[in-house]
Amino acid sequence: MPMQTVRTNPIEGQKPGTSGLRKKTAIFMRPHYLENYVQATFDGIGGVAGKTLVIGGDGRYFNQRAIQVILRMAAANQAKHCIVGQDGILSTPAASNLIRTRGADGGLILSASHNPGGPEADFGLKFNGPNGGPATEGVTDKIFECTKSIEVYKIAASPDANISDLGTGDMNGMTVEVIDPIAAYTTAVEKLFDFAKIRALFASGFSMRFDAMHAVTGPYAHAILEGVLGAPSGTVINGTPSPDFGGGHPDPNPIWAKELMDEMHGPAAPDFGAASDGDGDRNMIVGRNCYVTPSDSLALLAAKAHLAPGYKDGLAGVARSMPTSRAVDRVAESLGIACYETPTGWKFFGNLLDAGKATLCGEESAGTGSDHVREKDGLWAVLLWLNILAETGQSVSDLMAELWASHGRCYYSRLDYEDVDSDKAGAMMDALRAKLPDLAGRKIGDVVCEMADEFAYDDPVDGSRSTGQGIRLILKGGGRAIFRLSGTGTAGSTIRVYLEQLETDPSKLKMEPAQALAQVRAAALGISDLEAITGRSAPDVVT
Ligand code: G1P
Ligand code: ZN
Repeated sequence: MPMQTVRTNPIEGQKPGTSGLRKKTAIFMRPHYLENYVQATFDGIGGVAGKTLVIGGDGRYFNQRAIQVILRMAAANQAKHCIVGQDGILSTPAASNLIRTRGADGGLILSASHNPGGPEADFGLKFNGPNGGPATEGVTDKIFECTKSIEVYKIAASPDANISDLGTGDMNGMTVEVIDPIAAYTTAVEKLFDFAKIRALFASGFSMRFDAMHAVTGPYAHAILEGVLGAPSGTVINGTPSPDFGGGHPDPNPIWAKELMDEMHGPAAPDFGAASDGDGDRNMIVGRNCYVTPSDSLALLAAKAHLAPGYKDGLAGVARSMPTSRAVDRVAESLGIACYETPTGWKFFGNLLDAGKATLCGEESAGTGSDHVREKDGLWAVLLWLNILAETGQSVSDLMAELWASHGRCYYSRLDYEDVDSDKAGAMMDALRAKLPDLAGRKIGDVVCEMADEFAYDDPVDGSRSTGQGIRLILKGGGRAIFRLSGTGTAGSTIRVYLEQLETDPSKLKMEPAQALAQVRAAALGISDLEAITGRSAPDVVT
């Protein structure tokens, strides 16, 4: 079959961020753009000749077309075998699981996660390595270097592969194997949890709502929650994936999962609510009248994981991204296990998981996961919660109240200023950075700053150092404020301000978070001059 070598030129701005390359769909669809980045990825990982790759995505607009291009390019670059999810579907954790269980050399995941999908919205592509996790910084840097020097890409002039039917085909000498995207994932999680106990919980009348947000977890949740675990049909809502996620924003937080939040705070609230994002790696947990912040969810899961069979021997350690609240640190301390603080982005957990230093990891941005895969895993978190609820017989709000009573409560909120002029966002960060050396011991607003720095991480496994990972202000009395620029935005810059306040006074554990955080918020906005420098009078999203 003919193979083409097409001349191409370096394209500016193909710098992969925290989660691969994310751009407007229209940019990815420009002539040669996707091809250019795919070839840079293949070159950046040392070629794909003779290799096995897992390929799948979250089903968003352009997913299937892009997969056909990637297959043709993999064939032309002499890959041996591509394992593709049926109809091009694979949740991100399911892809990670497949890379690991099939011993693949890596995988290409097509997703822009929780960003909206469609011709006017976002698309993304990321490479995961043989451990099933996002490419390390070193690999990402090599891919980026290749985007700057690329001259040609290779593509087979072959008809589309049949990816709608299970089975094995051939493309230019490369095997294309189409697999059931759900079966292998179900086998993997079934081992970790007491499914019989969760089935009994549902049989006893326990009610749940899972909002798949018109995204990839719909089929997984239908199969596992309503199928294997016997939850009544109707438990899963918005469960049919659509290329534009029903026109919504598949980000499981109180703003975008409002339908679920309203139900959980209404008169007929089910016992338990959960949601997952575009590609199935994020999760939101909400009890009856009780929203659980992702940081608190991580802490609760760390405290109770031993109740699930897969974690019955306890945890080797836990890890959280730096902006994630310190609630899990307090749990780790009481358990006598290590707690690692890493930069934002799941890739930093990979080494800790591989080395057996951490069992559970999490991020404030609704990501929780464990060493069963090398991605965060939305459904996994929901299943672990269900296992804990089944085992303890307690409600979500009772579990949280118990955790706060024993460990204190870390009130938490994140302010996002989106699509800020990049120069202004940079100027704000530079100005704050310049103030850091003088802040310790100084009063900021009504509170004294204990320590101020820019976070850098020394990986305890490979010794690599990552600098410039967010500005943090540690405040006296349990407060903390963090500033960083998002690495996943597709327009301008997104400034994230993370606010935290520890409260241990038993009479103050049920405050409104906004009230508990008022002092930290005033201090953070005051010292950064954020609103004046950026011209923004309020954040676009508060979670
Ligand atoms: C965001 C989250 C981060 C997460 C990433 C990928 O990155 O903040 O925790 O790992 O998405 O889901 P950011 O846009 O902040 O760089
Ligand atoms: Zn995601």
